[in-house]
Amino acid sequence: MKVTNAEFVISAVGPSGYPQDALPEIALAGRSNVGKSSLINKMINRKNLARTSSTPGKTQHLNYYRINNELYFVDLPGYGYAKVSKTQRQVWGAMIEKYLLERETLRLIILVIDLRHPPSKDDEMMYDWLKHYDSPVCIVATKADKIPRSRWQKHIKIIKEALVMRGGDKLIMFSSETGIGKDELWAHIAGLTHP
Ligand code: GTP
Ligand code: MG
Repeated sequence: MKVTNAEFVISAVGPSGYPQDALPEIALAGRSNVGKSSLINKMINRKNLARTSSTPGKTQHLNYYRINNELYFVDLPGYGYAKVSKTQRQVWGAMIEKYLLERETLRLIILVIDLRHPPSKDDEMMYDWLKHYDSPVCIVATKADKIPRSRWQKHIKIIKEALVMRGGDKLIMFSSETGIGKDELWAHIAGLTHP
């Protein structure tokens, strides 16, 4: 897809903040600092529209980005960041859970995983939770630029086995540095938003 327009719309904490225009939504979930916001920026060719940081826990709300007046990317707060208080974690958990379970315009959850490492327990729980609710999910293994191509297959296998990937879910290799995987991910999104 050719992105001609991308804009930050709103930072929502609950349904009253969600946009009302019923455009399809693509949500980004994954560990804190895994590269969700960077992935959005790469997909829309913008340096820093989605706020990124080397400090984990930067994204704390549901951040909506409208693309070409056709769809939204929804940047979700990352999980698994140890320095967050238990209360705060419960508040985020409830907010994300409500969004994922009840948002009718949600077309796909992109679960972002770090290609370099085996999935964390939180990644496994997240995938299982999404599968339990039959949510449309795809796995994007990012930071692929950090691993030589000759070792990709080995890392992919570890991820697929650890998550027990099922139901024909797609796994896409990605890098926000090099743009690997960008076209494949856009094609997948287009198939879901222009059926
Ligand atoms: P939270 O908002 O805290 O949940 O983090 P996030 O998942 O949005 O991560 P973010 O996009 O802010 O990236 C975290 C760090 O990883 C930054 O320093 C990025 O530059 C780096 N990073 C993200 N994607 C890639 C990638 O594909 N390759 C490399 N080499 N670095 C990346
Ligand atoms: Mg972020």
